[in-house]
Amino acid sequence: MADIGVSISGVNLKNPVLPAAGPNVRTAKLMLEAVKGGAGGIVTKTISVVPADDPRPTIRKIGTRGLMNCETWSEIPAEKFIEDCKAVKEAGVPLIVSIGYKPDEVARLGKLVEEEISPDAIEFSTHYVGREVEPLVDIARSLRNAVSVPIWMKISPNFLNIEELVAAASKYVDGFVAINSYGPVLDFDPENPVPLLGSDYGQGWMSGAPILPIALRIVHQISSVQEKPVIGVGGIYSGVDAIKFIMAGASAVQVCSAAIQYGHSIYGKIAAEIEKWLDEHNLKSIDEIRGLYRKKLAERKVFLQKPTMTIDEDKCTGCKLCVSRCIQGALYMKGDKAAVISENCIGCGFCQDFCKFDAMKLA
Ligand SMILES: Cc1cc2nc3c(=O)[nH]c(=O)nc-3n(C[C@H](O)[C@H](O)[C@H](O)COP(=O)(O)O)c2cc1C
Repeated sequence: MADIGVSISGVNLKNPVLPAAGPNVRTAKLMLEAVKGGAGGIVTKTISVVPADDPRPTIRKIGTRGLMNCETWSEIPAEKFIEDCKAVKEAGVPLIVSIGYKPDEVARLGKLVEEEISPDAIEFSTHYVGREVEPLVDIARSLRNAVSVPIWMKISPNFLNIEELVAAASKYVDGFVAINSYGPVLDFDPENPVPLLGSDYGQGWMSGAPILPIALRIVHQISSVQEKPVIGVGGIYSGVDAIKFIMAGASAVQVCSAAIQYGHSIYGKIAAEIEKWLDEHNLKSIDEIRGLYRKKLAERKVFLQKPTMTIDEDKCTGCKLCVSRCIQGALYMKGDKAAVISENCIGCGFCQDFCKFDAMKLA
């Protein structure tokens, strides 16, 4: 059986699946339930110097595997929250406490958290502190100067200069977590077009499956420009989703929306699916696939001239699916095989996604 244990900045996890900061880890009781559900460690809901007071409703569903929320940080005062977390620390599971937001606030809270519970790491959220690189690096520096435990910087998807930011911040932090929820976004039911959330105009932050490709892109960017470990988060519902993040460069993953939708057992389920996937591919650990996407990217053939689709007649079964999907009218049936009208083909590659027989290639 594959070994799915990982070590991230000295934090040893029995498996790479952690809860992400959110209502699923709002209290010590819920954190302990996440442990029972198979989480490899615990990341807490974010605490800040002032308890939050969020307008209700705070969490609504969009689509089948998506959420929109206007929850900010913990509504529990930091001191009480820290006191409660002692029970989680005593349970012997790696504990990562999430804090926010400004430089002086994270320094103050970080020191308090370290003195009171000595967590295995501290994660800091950068969600409500603008998008400029320097002020964000200031937060990392301030926390670094205040504590000696490993610190993880959580990246928001709205940042414009992610590579510049992480390259500068990696001097101060021990790992990156990507991404926070995306937004603001808006959704409502056309049969009853009332605001779904209690925020100003019903807007919220989107999470779940719709943000997975954004998260994957950012994990790739972060792991491409610096060496510190990256923890992927955004739209993970299955072991295969997690495997994609690891291939994009992640060392572990976090899960929030799937836990809200399907309960605490999701962590153990995803961990078991990762192990199964590795076993099925005869791999011994996730180290063997970490960053595989970057390797494939380096090997990719770049077309110097516009390519045209080609069809391998031996593999084509004549199912016509590709022909029915080509909006350019570049594919037709020549007898019982698909064929290409090269002057109509723009080399977009879309038809490949409908061929189940690997008969189509751009050349
Ligand atoms: C209701 C809700 C509350 C959240 N609260 C926090 C929070 O307190 N701190 C934080 O860093 N991220 C918070 N997040 C973001 C999640 O930790 C995570 O980054 C994001 O939802 C993407 O992961 P997912 O698609 O698995 O939900 C919250 C997300 C949701 C849905």
